[in-house]
Amino acid sequence: MSRVYLNGQFLPLAEACVPVLDRGFLFGDGVYEVIPAYGGHLFRLDAHLDRLGASLAAVRIGNPHDREGWKRVLQTLVDEAGPGDCSVYLQVTRGADVKRDHGFPPPEVRPTVFAMASPLHPPPRERLERGASARVMADIRWARCDIKAITLLPNVLLRQAALDAGDDEAILVRDGLALEGSASSLFIVADGILATPPKGPALLPGVTRDLVLELAQSHGRPWVERDIAEAELRCADEIWLTSSTREVTAVTRLDGVAVGDGRPGPVWRRMADWYRACKAALRSGEECP
Ligand code: PDD
Repeated sequence: MSRVYLNGQFLPLAEACVPVLDRGFLFGDGVYEVIPAYGGHLFRLDAHLDRLGASLAAVRIGNPHDREGWKRVLQTLVDEAGPGDCSVYLQVTRGADVKRDHGFPPPEVRPTVFAMASPLHPPPRERLERGASARVMADIRWARCDIKAITLLPNVLLRQAALDAGDDEAILVRDGLALEGSASSLFIVADGILATPPKGPALLPGVTRDLVLELAQSHGRPWVERDIAEAELRCADEIWLTSSTREVTAVTRLDGVAVGDGRPGPVWRRMADWYRACKAALRSGEECP
């Protein structure tokens, strides 16, 4: 593996060590981002750094780098990862004090900053063509799901419950509304209109979600941000899940029942083409859309 970044240094992974009193380890007290890079170009980097800034501000951790500083660190990791596509994981925790205490540590305790690049293998064509299966589950997460916190135990349990049921992802429902996946944003197509729940504290403002809406807008495909009732999810013509690592995936089975005709739908097909074109543009150094 290429080198990782830890607190100002680029190191081999085996030499990157964090004290056991780090608050990320003790409390899950930190935030993170996952950013794809295609052909050496970080995808939607400013949007990811904006969201990182918002997460840090929400949990009151000072941003350890300015934008140029982040770009230097992340681009170095991407450059060292070689020519293939990769995804960069970064996390910032509230750092390591000399004792365990729920209250914030004194200001001299600096945040712990870690980042690494991993190979990114987008789903193979036949997998995309088959689509994914999802299971509806009660959302057991907290009230600030808009913060990209490393405290992911509910998401981990929900994803595993879906996997145990033989499915790929959990779609989370709270107060009768379908919100998002355990690690993905949610879209449906109903009456020809693409719909996704509005941003707010109940869900993560997905960067891929925003790109999908921009692509819909620029290609004249009608879309709306609105609440999606669980009952509507169950009779949607198409369901999609989106994320930086899984791109735009069609859900073809929901709770064991076929979505539409059980194959990825025509609107997904168009969006998948637009998304592919966007990645190709980025690889040749162009902006998209
Ligand atoms: N997760 N909602 C949740 C709860 C997520 O964890 C993610 C991404 C998304 C999609 O966000 P984006 O399009 O910005 O990747 C929505 C990342 C990939 C992860 O935890 O690995």
